[in-house]
Amino acid sequence: MTDLSALILDRIRDVPDYPKPGVLFKDISPLLADHAAFAAVVDEVAGWRPADKIVGIEARGFILAAPVAYRAGAGFVPVRKKGKLPSETLEESYDLEYGSATIEVHRDAFDEGDRVLIVDDVLATGGTAEATVELVRRAGAEVVGVAMLMELAFLKGRERLKEVDLRSLVIV
Ligand code: PRP
Repeated sequence: MTDLSALILDRIRDVPDYPKPGVLFKDISPLLADHAAFAAVVDEVAGWRPADKIVGIEARGFILAAPVAYRAGAGFVPVRKKGKLPSETLEESYDLEYGSATIEVHRDAFDEGDRVLIVDDVLATGGTAEATVELVRRAGAEVVGVAMLMELAFLKGRERLKEVDLRSLVIV
């Protein structure tokens, strides 16, 4: 394990039975509140792959992706839950444990051929990230990587992202 992985693990708090009984929630608040740890994560992700745009996935993904974009000298593009983006959008739906979810990106968010790095806090089942990859491609851009702070290996999200370069700073 790298020093950074150990630091991240130390700064992520497990909250039992949130948001519902039986779920162990991974709370990144202590990491975000620690300047050195937060900066180390941002610097690591920003230096991973050259990109023209950094995509952040609502909501916790925004917190990581925006400073990564600033640090990398790239633009920031939000992928949001349906109904939150004001202009014309592309949308993708994906299955949840119960029901489905829909996320959107602005149709004109990317220039043709933009290299895009997708950033989020947690890879769980992979549905959100897979739908985001699809949105970016449909919008005419190239996904150069998917960067996750943490990957929950037992949920096998990685299997849904075989076509992209996926990097998780911590795998549990
Ligand atoms: C969480 C997390 C990822 C997604 C991962 O977001 O931040 O975006 O779930 O799950 P998956 O791999 O099973 O798709 P959530 O939907 O809880 O939204 P939030 O960040 O707004 O709380």
